Amino acid sequence: MYVRRLTLTNFRCYRRLDLTLPCETIVVCGRNAQGKTSLVEAVYCLATTRSPTASADREVVHWQAAEDGIPFSRVHGEVARADGAVTLDIVTALQSTDAEEPRYGKRVQVNGVPRRALDVLGHLNVVLFTPQDIEVVAGAPAERRRYLDVLLCQIDRAYCRALSTYNQVLAQRNHLLRKLRDRGGKPDELAFWDERLAHVGGQLIERRLATVVALDALAAPLHGDLVDAADPHGPLEVRYLPGLRPARRTAWQPALAGLAETPAPYADLPPDADGLAARLHDALGAQRADDIARAATQAGPHRDDLAFRLGGIDMRTYGSRGQQRTVILALKLAEAQRMWSETGERPVLLLDDVLSELDAVRRRHLLARIEPRQQTIITTTQVDALPDPLPPDTLVLEVEAAAVVAARRAGRAVTPPVREREQG
Ligand SMILES: Nc1ncnc2c1ncn2[C@@H]1O[C@H](COP(=O)(O)OP(=O)(O)O)[C@@H](O)[C@H]1O
Ligand SMILES: [Mg+2]
Repeated sequence: MYVRRLTLTNFRCYRRLDLTLPCETIVVCGRNAQGKTSLVEAVYCLATTRSPTASADREVVHWQAAEDGIPFSRVHGEVARADGAVTLDIVTALQSTDAEEPRYGKRVQVNGVPRRALDVLGHLNVVLFTPQDIEVVAGAPAERRRYLDVLLCQIDRAYCRALSTYNQVLAQRNHLLRKLRDRGGKPDELAFWDERLAHVGGQLIERRLATVVALDALAAPLHGDLVDAADPHGPLEVRYLPGLRPARRTAWQPALAGLAETPAPYADLPPDADGLAARLHDALGAQRADDIARAATQAGPHRDDLAFRLGGIDMRTYGSRGQQRTVILALKLAEAQRMWSETGERPVLLLDDVLSELDAVRRRHLLARIEPRQQTIITTTQVDALPDPLPPDTLVLEVEAAAVVAARRAGRAVTPPVREREQG
């Protein structure tokens, strides 16, 4: 699948942009703050309905949009897929100014028909890779859960629905815990919420586990390719650590070199969603008193984590910056393969500013992994971070002051406008 046409109105720094894009590698180059990331962000937004970075909807709306009347931004995309074309619209508009802060809301359309945000997912799949993704390895557990959720929500709507239900039930259970702590009452009142939380939680854990097992198998050889043959650090292991026990991290804490890996890492986990739900239900029951004292639910997928280990060493705590970078790179490539195998379509790869962070060997490896027939948008300030010469005919877009000012094909002198290069 690929984005055939991208039209932006008041999105970030773009007042108006209309681009036709091929299903190939596209290099977007330009100086800092010209609009490269905004482009990538728009494509990500089409796939997920969200910006990867904005903390509030209004941030994506152009600052001067108010001059046109009602401030809004629109990302419109035509996606070409093996099973036909689909158009997606993500509109962020001012809804009310009654409150202290102006309130913005989002409306989405699929093929011109208003839909729920959830219904947009799956029409376009993207894998975004930015320098900040190193936080998936080095940052807090929430980063790793978000990583899994963004991947899974794109390929599995049932997962996304379950996640949304889970978060609602969790909030309700926590509300009741606070009430029981502050005003007393019968802990039995929790039984209803425990049941529901465990039921949906079991489904989430099952999907996350299957995904991490697949990512582990895909990422290990990719990582092997990326590191030097002489690299003594041993194979990459990606492990899922379900939040079924509050103290579970201690089992993973000792990150000693040469620590023997358990032969069957998930042998102690029930094999299906029902079994996992029963296990979570037991954990919730066993921790009730403690949960009430803390007014917080301490078991469940909202406490899940992932571990990345090289030769037994935990990369979050002991990995060098370079090792962490290689781990996330292997993981991103594995993610793209997983999406492909799960959906039968290659996702769009978005590589925002990552090449300059990689050394020449890793950069070459990454670029060599890119399928020429997979849409891949690479942004860079330094065209010299790209292989020289670029693969012949690579489309290079130059971005300056929120406009695509030139489009050329690498290795060619002529510069026909992008619109004329439209592909069927
Ligand atoms: N809502 C907005 N309205 C107008 N400009 C914005 C908005 N949000 C960000 N910008 C500006 O857009 C410019 C381009 O940002 P970006 O796409 O991240 O640049 P880069 O080319 O470095 O990736 C920046 O100067 C940024 O301040
Ligand atoms: Mg940028």
